[in-house]
Amino acid sequence: MVAYASKHGSTEKIARWIGKEIRGNVDVLDVEQIQNINYDYVVLGTPIYEHKPLPSMSQFVEKNSDQLKNKSKSVFVVASDNEIRSKREENIRAFTKIIPGEVNQAAVFAGEVNEQELNQQEEQSVNSYMNSISKPVGSYSKLNEKKCREFGKSLNRFM
Ligand SMILES: Cc1cc2nc3c(=O)[nH]c(=O)nc-3n(C[C@H](O)[C@H](O)[C@H](O)COP(=O)(O)O)c2cc1C
Repeated sequence: MVAYASKHGSTEKIARWIGKEIRGNVDVLDVEQIQNINYDYVVLGTPIYEHKPLPSMSQFVEKNSDQLKNKSKSVFVVASDNEIRSKREENIRAFTKIIPGEVNQAAVFAGEVNEQELNQQEEQSVNSYMNSISKPVGSYSKLNEKKCREFGKSLNRFM
């Protein structure tokens, strides 16, 4: 199963690309729709907002903590940028620190922002983050389908 949380859709796109590369029966599901986690392998993906995973993902992890603990699992985070190493590590850590048990593989992918979709508060928040890492503000898409698919492919060795 690839379980994702997504507010503006980029993490969902990435989850679907990853799901396509994993062999066998794969369900790609929004955490808000998941009924059970009776799967051999779980991939969890969330964007980072204000330095944290989306609340729906944190809640899902907390609710299923006992079952997730002993499962074979990998994670990915989607963030504004993945060029700065310290930021990459910070963003991965923001998610892995709430995951119970071992994580086989963790990745960070750059996402996208469409300013037209954001309310004023969101726009301010993302712009102040972009300023803090000296990146241009405004809409962008840094989605890299190939990299996401390669990550998906690399997970087959854990199945
Ligand atoms: C309001 C807002 C806050 C954000 N905060 C962060 C942040 O703290 N760190 C970061 O790396 N990216 C941040 N981003 C970038 C998002 O992680 C990125 O746009 C991601 O692709 C959004 O995923 P989604 O389309 O699945 O919701 C922020 C974006 C928005 C709109």
